[in-house]
Amino acid sequence: MKYFVTLAIATVVLLAACVKDQMVGVPDLDYELKALLNFISPSKNASYYITPDRNDLANIPQDPKNPLNSYKVELGNFLFFETAIALDAKKVEGLGTYSCSTCHVPEAGFKPGKGQGIADGGIGFGLLGEERIRNIRYQENELDVQGARPLSMINVAFAENTMWNGSFGSTATNIGTEEIWKTNPQFHGNIDGFMGIEAQNFEGMKIHRLLVTPEIAENLGYKDLFDLAFPEYSEAERYSNVTASLALSAYIRTIFPNEAPFQKWLKGEQFAMTPQEKRGAILFFDKGGCVNCHKSPGLSALEYHAVGVKDMYQRPSFGTSVNDARNLGRGGYTKKLEDNYKFKVPQLYNLSDTPFYFHGSSHTDLEQVVQYFNKAIPENTNVPEGQIAILFKPLNLNENEVKDLTSFLERALRDPSLERYYPSRILSGNCFPNADFQSTMDLGCN
Ligand code: HEC
Ligand code: HEC
Repeated sequence: MKYFVTLAIATVVLLAACVKDQMVGVPDLDYELKALLNFISPSKNASYYITPDRNDLANIPQDPKNPLNSYKVELGNFLFFETAIALDAKKVEGLGTYSCSTCHVPEAGFKPGKGQGIADGGIGFGLLGEERIRNIRYQENELDVQGARPLSMINVAFAENTMWNGSFGSTATNIGTEEIWKTNPQFHGNIDGFMGIEAQNFEGMKIHRLLVTPEIAENLGYKDLFDLAFPEYSEAERYSNVTASLALSAYIRTIFPNEAPFQKWLKGEQFAMTPQEKRGAILFFDKGGCVNCHKSPGLSALEYHAVGVKDMYQRPSFGTSVNDARNLGRGGYTKKLEDNYKFKVPQLYNLSDTPFYFHGSSHTDLEQVVQYFNKAIPENTNVPEGQIAILFKPLNLNENEVKDLTSFLERALRDPSLERYYPSRILSGNCFPNADFQSTMDLGCN
């Protein structure tokens, strides 16, 4: 009896849904989107856009020189948040107070929660990093800050060359730039043939004033994990900034937005996305032309384009200047005029977690970003017209289409449970991702 009632209800619901669809004339959005994705994806199958599962290590893009194993990933997961390795601080009061995650906060989309990140020399956290400010006892030139907005760690595995200028990594777009590596010691990882994430993080440990030595690994309780993760390294070389950075690289390669509605829809959950989000997706992959640049499964690309946005020095920020080579994007690295003002195409998941968009955090509203692409009027007068990407052109989207496209970015591309990437604790037992006095209050650590 119960079975029949359920069946009857189900039938009525189904019929009602069909009638409703017919009444408002909703086209079969699922069919249309699926067909479009099959057509447009390089593999001719919509499943191309499904990002790997974090535990499926064999199917995650990786560096042959740093093959993934679960111990490395676990160790990297701890170290990414470990404030007790913040041992190379500029001032005593900075010691043990920051981590990689100070600028890459999971629930802020792995960005800092502010337009610019401050690690050593900053204090406070707020709810997701938005309250972090400069410690006035640090001079501006003593702060760990950069002249560009931190990139997300989501989908970073698809970035063979890292940074907005793509300077790290020996493969992909850096083939042919070998001469540059000899001019700057920071490129030793490129010379040694590593991919971007690995090559960058060797430097990242240093730049962000972190330190791992055999004594530190032992004291904090990480020695066993280093042993399990790096058995092929001799004991003399096993506990160091080098192995720590390889573990960090392994961990960040596993960060994917698998719980985002678009991912669920791709895996067959038809109702994971609303009709509006589906219409937005169709605009993204068709009339909006976004996929012409945002191509990879993470909707990033190893391509550099100028879309004429403002730089970090053009807004209130620390340690930036009109002369910062970062303002030139790819050209700042290659020194070729034709590369000037061209920046790497970033991934597009979890943008709405923290409202700072583009390399200079020049926009704070996602709908405005969509309008920026729709109108295609460059905002940075330093960028010569001839540099602007040909594909950056007016799209003639109407108000409703702009809203649809925004809803696709804002909700369908937002994984609501990135906090799963936090470790449940760090082995030092310290507060994380920050441990300065104000942050420990904000984070409820004491
Ligand atoms: C002070 C803030 C700050 C800290 C701390 C920090 N980062 Fe970053 N991170 C940035 C900024 C800014 C960028 C972009 C810089 C650029 O492209 O010019 C970035 C970019 C990256 C990228 C490149 C991503 C891509 O898609 O190209 C990786 C990987 C990365 N960081 C990993 C780390 C790791 C690992 C740590 C800890 C060792 C760390 N970061 C600590 C600010 C920070
Ligand atoms: C010509 C290639 C190109 C096209 C076409 C393009 N983008 Fe982008 N997009 C970029 C580049 C390059 C950046 C980074 C620019 C910068 O910060 O200097 C970017 C940045 C963004 C950002 C900011 C991401 C962040 O992390 O701050 C969003 C959002 C975005 N694009 C959405 C779109 C949408 C939506 C469309 C289609 C309407 C689109 N893009 C079309 C190249 C492109």
